[in-house]
Amino acid sequence: MAEARTLLIISGGIEAADAAKRAREMGLHVVVSDIDPNAPGFAFAHDRLIADVYGPEETFAAATRYHREKRQLDGVICVAADAPVTAALIAEGLGLPGISVATAKLACDKLAMKARFKDAGVPVPWFAAVTSLTELRDALEERGTDLVIKPVDSRGSRGVQRLARVADFKAAFALAQRHSPTSRVMVEDYLAGPQVSTESIVCNGICHTPGFSDRNYELLDVHAPFFIENGGDLPSHLPRATQDKVKAVVARAAEALGVRNGTVKGDIVVHKGEPYVIELAARLSGGFFCTREIPLNTGVDFIGCAIRVALGENVPVSEMEPKRQQPVVQRYAFPKPGRVVDVRGAETAKKMPGIQDVIVTARPGDVIPPAGDKRPSAAMVLATGSSRNEALAAARAGLSAIEIETL
Ligand SMILES: Nc1ncnc2c1ncn2[C@@H]1O[C@H](COP(=O)(O)OP(=O)(O)O)[C@@H](O)[C@H]1O
Ligand SMILES: [Mg+2]
Repeated sequence: MAEARTLLIISGGIEAADAAKRAREMGLHVVVSDIDPNAPGFAFAHDRLIADVYGPEETFAAATRYHREKRQLDGVICVAADAPVTAALIAEGLGLPGISVATAKLACDKLAMKARFKDAGVPVPWFAAVTSLTELRDALEERGTDLVIKPVDSRGSRGVQRLARVADFKAAFALAQRHSPTSRVMVEDYLAGPQVSTESIVCNGICHTPGFSDRNYELLDVHAPFFIENGGDLPSHLPRATQDKVKAVVARAAEALGVRNGTVKGDIVVHKGEPYVIELAARLSGGFFCTREIPLNTGVDFIGCAIRVALGENVPVSEMEPKRQQPVVQRYAFPKPGRVVDVRGAETAKKMPGIQDVIVTARPGDVIPPAGDKRPSAAMVLATGSSRNEALAAARAGLSAIEIETL
């Protein structure tokens, strides 16, 4: 029997653990890298690399050592961590399939990415760099206050603020800047309209988008000026023709970034009926979107397909196409900010009708930050139903069974 092929999964976090599990089911030799020796993904790994996911050089060095001295790697993927540069450096350095470092870097720099999109004719909101408070004031004068300010290179909505809902522009600028590792800030026009998350597999330059979810922003006003998404609904409520337009824009955006083989996760806003790209990440999604929601909704083994692409395989198109559209509703719990003292009800919630998954991320002692900092959610439920309303009712019931006490 031929020796099993070897896959390196970057991130051993709880949202990436499913990918390690799937890779193992596929008969692969699984290597997981993470700085945390207790990372949940390690439970499914044959071998582990202790290295910082967000330290490209560090992980590259560990992967190279492994590849040369222990066992040859055949593929690398990055799941639920915004570290495409780490994956690309390894792919490029070891000659594995994947995206280039240049593409990965573009996807991690919202200014460079949007400039590329603009050049390629991919619709994006108006945007500009702001290097000082004076420049911010100039932008406000020129464009009006309906702008979004954000760090150029952060993640998870940290420091992203709607300026129309901000009283102190100086503080808003400082917050955005604080969340940028390079202290760079930008502004964009705020585009009103439904927001969607997409997730696609690009195989030989052809983009397939089985992942399509309406993002739920009912808490937008409560948390303004911050953008806090409290879940998602699949299938999308948007008309089929609009969904097709979104998918076409995502395909053009992936091409503009230079992704020919890999996955892309899109943040798209449909403004006045037309899709605009807020960002396109060149990696696999977090929040259990690719690992649980898409398979539940469509029957597509998204992670399995992504792994095969990462190993350089040709995945048949039929395997990337939705086989069904089962209603799925995901909701997050946001406890009051503070220190978690007790978590109750997860087991009860798991047994409720329609509940497919309950993931409690908060543990006693953890601190739930206020909005605008890191993601303040503490638990997630995934529910299905024969209709969207049934799935929604199940998700709400499940969520209300979980009690997270903070002080
Ligand atoms: N120009 C915009 N118009 C409308 N909403 C936006 C805009 N920019 C950002 N947002 C909202 O803020 C969220 C976070 O912004 P994003 O640029 O995706 O940064 P991050 O990398 O932190 O996810 C988006 O998913 C979207 O909901
Ligand atoms: Mg985003």
